[in-house]
Amino acid sequence: MKAFYVTTPIYYISGNPHIGHAYTTVVADVLARTARTAGPAFFLTGTDEHGQKVANAAAEHGMTPQAWCDQLVPRWRSLFAAYHVEYDDFIRTTQPRHETKVQKIFERLRERGDIYLGKYEGWYCVADETFWLESKLVEGRCPTCGREVQWISEDDWFFRLSAYRDRLIEYFRANPDFLRPRSVYNEMMAILEEGLEDLSISRSNFDWGIPVPGDTRVIYVWFDALLNYITAIGWGDDDARFQSLWPADVQLIGKEIARFHTIIWPAILWALGEEVPHQVFAHGWITVDGQKMGKSLGNATDAFALAERFGADSLRYFLLREAPFGSDFSYSEEKIAQRHNSDLGNDLGNLLHRTLSMLQKYRGGVVPEAPAKLDILERFADLPQRVRERTMALDFRAALEAAWELVTALNRAIDERRPWTLAKEGREDELSAFMYELCEGLRRLAIVLQPVMPERMREMWRRLGQSAAIDAHWNDSLATPIAAGTQTHGGEPLFPRVELAGAAG
Ligand code: ME8
Ligand code: MG
Repeated sequence: MKAFYVTTPIYYISGNPHIGHAYTTVVADVLARTARTAGPAFFLTGTDEHGQKVANAAAEHGMTPQAWCDQLVPRWRSLFAAYHVEYDDFIRTTQPRHETKVQKIFERLRERGDIYLGKYEGWYCVADETFWLESKLVEGRCPTCGREVQWISEDDWFFRLSAYRDRLIEYFRANPDFLRPRSVYNEMMAILEEGLEDLSISRSNFDWGIPVPGDTRVIYVWFDALLNYITAIGWGDDDARFQSLWPADVQLIGKEIARFHTIIWPAILWALGEEVPHQVFAHGWITVDGQKMGKSLGNATDAFALAERFGADSLRYFLLREAPFGSDFSYSEEKIAQRHNSDLGNDLGNLLHRTLSMLQKYRGGVVPEAPAKLDILERFADLPQRVRERTMALDFRAALEAAWELVTALNRAIDERRPWTLAKEGREDELSAFMYELCEGLRRLAIVLQPVMPERMREMWRRLGQSAAIDAHWNDSLATPIAAGTQTHGGEPLFPRVELAGAAG
């Protein structure tokens, strides 16, 4: 069985990671965890270590690029760990497993005539590691990030990108879901319709890159970087493994690098005789004051401090719930606190807290006998299915909204049925049936919300007296409802309220 293969961009380690990097990586983690509830999955992330941008950052700190990368990689790994991300592999483009294969691919394409020697004259944006034609500049600056560009005139190796234009247009037309969302698809289609130039894929005025075989130049960082998606999974040395994963199911990226991933990348793959990924999803930006948050703009918040403050699972929830996936959204601590205190604290956390306190009070914390028929849960029988489908369709917000319908229904049922009145009036069977339903409802919520909030849901699972692994296949976990006689455990609020200084939370 082919595993579900999901990737993130590999990040430039020109500085510390921020919440934007956590965002894409968390999304990939949620997809991989969800895919794993039904079958095998493989999740790749990593760091993009070559190029002028990284070399400059190292030089500014008086370090060699390699030493610079080596000391920063642990910082990136610990950010992902802090956000409860469990990737299957972390590729660094300075690893021999990658470098040797990039050279092999370069040689192969050169033999086939897809790579040739020419002269490059034009502009270059170091921050985006992008070549720009004069006509594309905006007021003489990089059209993507607005920074100054530098003039380059050198003899370089070129990739015959223009030869793939017609095939790309046809492919886009035949596969409208190859690139989502539609806005980015349209943007890329417009670029294709305008025409494609061949792409310079070497650099000769600095040396921090993979050497072009038999040459003094280094390979252009983007040509090197894109190949990580296949070098990491055995291309060129473990064909069985490669075939079991490629083509990728979803490649997640930010929209600013869509051209690389949906025009250049497919062309390279075709030149190599490989298939293109099933889907590239180019998501929107987290913005601050209307601008893309980023390390170079200096408007990035400390992602470690945020996770510490709200809990990483709460941030994961915020990132997926706040906006439809694909759209830009602005970030603020007030907005995070709002979601945290209301959706997580008041709705879900309080549901657990109320349920377990009442169970403690009326039944000594022990789950009563199951009633003959579940009443509320009956209406939510297809919830796991819906959550999974929406998640795998990358509609995370709708998946969470579906789960919250159950949260809301259970909270409302408590208010309407008033278990305290049932207890006072001695309606013990009704009380037992209702308490059972609340416990089982919470157990199901823990299962379906586990991909988004793995740590908090494991804790909820534990409090519900569950011991089997929560992340086993959903079908198994769902088939066996909570058992009568299960001892539950109370505890502190699952999502303690966070107060913001000077703001009503
Ligand atoms: O582009 N909002 O690396 P990079 C949302 N090395 N996502 C954001 C974000 C924001 N404000 N800021 C960053 C590169 N990201 C190349 C990629 S892939 C073969 C090479 C996320 O360090 C988003 O996924 O600039 C974006 O595409 C990526 O980080 C860019 O990271
Ligand atoms: Mg960038």
